[in-house]
Amino acid sequence: GRDRIIMMVDKTRVMVMLSGRGSNFIALADDMAKTPHHRIVAVASDNPQAKGLTYARDKNIPIVMLDYTKGKAVAEQTLQEFIAREGVYYILLAGFMKILSRDFVQQFKNRIINIHPSLLPQYPGLNTHQRVIDAGEKEHGCSVHVVDETLDGGRLLAQRAIKIFPNDNAATLAEKVLALEHELYPFVLQHIDDLIGTDHEQ
Ligand code: GRF
Repeated sequence: GRDRIIMMVDKTRVMVMLSGRGSNFIALADDMAKTPHHRIVAVASDNPQAKGLTYARDKNIPIVMLDYTKGKAVAEQTLQEFIAREGVYYILLAGFMKILSRDFVQQFKNRIINIHPSLLPQYPGLNTHQRVIDAGEKEHGCSVHVVDETLDGGRLLAQRAIKIFPNDNAATLAEKVLALEHELYPFVLQHIDDLIGTDHEQ
């Protein structure tokens, strides 16, 4: 008979990318410790001081440091090589503050996911809680979406919403929304293959 090449894609191998506190990374890792639906192959960061890296070190999760001082192309090359070598499928942005290049995003179409602290498409960008307060909104929340070449504009996968009360301010909203994020991101990851679906161009 004729040999066939069978390509195995393991969609359970994920990477988390963070720049700071890393509370969403910790929520994801803790959820997977309870139910091993996915495996965090590594955490990538542009910031060696990121608090979230402490947790990765404690749990012996490999860290990929991205050097942006020599430009975005150099940093993304490191990332690309790691992803290919380790068979990473989903790339989960969790407070990653660099913008990935158009080429990178297109290369990993429907494989890069982000969590954002607003009810997208409202309030893309930074400082969402204060902007929501300033605008007198009645509702706020968080969104998980596919990353495409637009800023916080890719296809929505899931949202959680809360009511805003008269005594809320940016700090109370930040705290409430973050607690929702910590539930939403693991939930979305558990169902990610279904949410991404197949009824769209790959
Ligand atoms: C979260 O609010 C997330 O929605 C936004 O950045 C923040 C990251 O927080 N993209 P943490 O580093 O996960 O604690």
